[in-house]
Amino acid sequence: MQTRPHLDILLCAPRGFCAGVDRAIQIVELALEKYGAPVYVRHAIVHNKYVVDGLRDKGAIFVEELDEIPDTEAPVVFSAHGVPKSVPADAKTRNMFFLDATCPLVSKVHVEAQRHFAEGHEIVLIGHKGHPEVVGTMGQLPPGAISLVETVADAMAFSPKNPDTLAFVTQTTLSVDDTREIVTALQSRFPAINGPHKEDICYATTNRQEAIKSVAPEVDAMIVVGSPNSSNSLRLVEVAERSGCKRAMLVDRASDIDWSRFEGIKRLGVSAGASAPEQLVDEVIEAFAQRYDIKVEARVTARENIAFNIPRELRSMEVQSA
Ligand code: F3S
Repeated sequence: MQTRPHLDILLCAPRGFCAGVDRAIQIVELALEKYGAPVYVRHAIVHNKYVVDGLRDKGAIFVEELDEIPDTEAPVVFSAHGVPKSVPADAKTRNMFFLDATCPLVSKVHVEAQRHFAEGHEIVLIGHKGHPEVVGTMGQLPPGAISLVETVADAMAFSPKNPDTLAFVTQTTLSVDDTREIVTALQSRFPAINGPHKEDICYATTNRQEAIKSVAPEVDAMIVVGSPNSSNSLRLVEVAERSGCKRAMLVDRASDIDWSRFEGIKRLGVSAGASAPEQLVDEVIEAFAQRYDIKVEARVTARENIAFNIPRELRSMEVQSA
């Protein structure tokens, strides 16, 4: 009988679901339980194909804009990424019943931006153009109030109306290291710029990047479980590469693994983006177990115990489901 090669798997912790994703999925599930199908969801509730397909099977209908929804009494859920102010305003005009699954840490950035605006600051948002969170944050204020900066080059080229009344906020799922460089560039040009103590990158993004940094230099390859539209998952792949692991790959699930890229490996790192369910991590490990004699070791770099409240309308359902 042929013996299977040995493979050490270093399992990054924390990985996978964050408190904001957990809450957003719960909101859709509890709404389906309480009000029945369909429940409309504006944009992918979280950026994971498996999660979205699973909720669709239970009766969720995903749309990109409210005008795709017929006049209905069915609930409408806004995704975890947040929405421009015009979205709840339109929903109210149409008498829609909506539930807001915006992550509270994204809402915190919205509040920060509004406060800076009220104090007369011109605002710089560090983030990725077109990402729904960026669209949502920019949409908290009138057009022109927020300028988007994506790179150090953008920060160097930015010309404010008044350098003494500037403030910055950031997307929550950015690379910690890239963002630090952009903030440093802005601070060096505009020493009076206002901002958060560090940036607005959330605890989950930071912790997952730290875990990858600890594991990447020790492994021959790294798998990040996550969907290609997930910003924080893409950043984890970049962080792994920059931390010394040149074979870092994003996979939605085990069936996507390109086995030719794993030939000859002895040590593998595994992590998952904040919107990827643990079940898919198990599936990936199981796929390796079928080809290798594996030994799994958890690499814990932080412990998380954050949970967010769900909207009032669904709280009684939460008790029943527990
Ligand atoms: Fe919220 Fe951060 Fe998750 S902003 S949705 S806790 S990745």
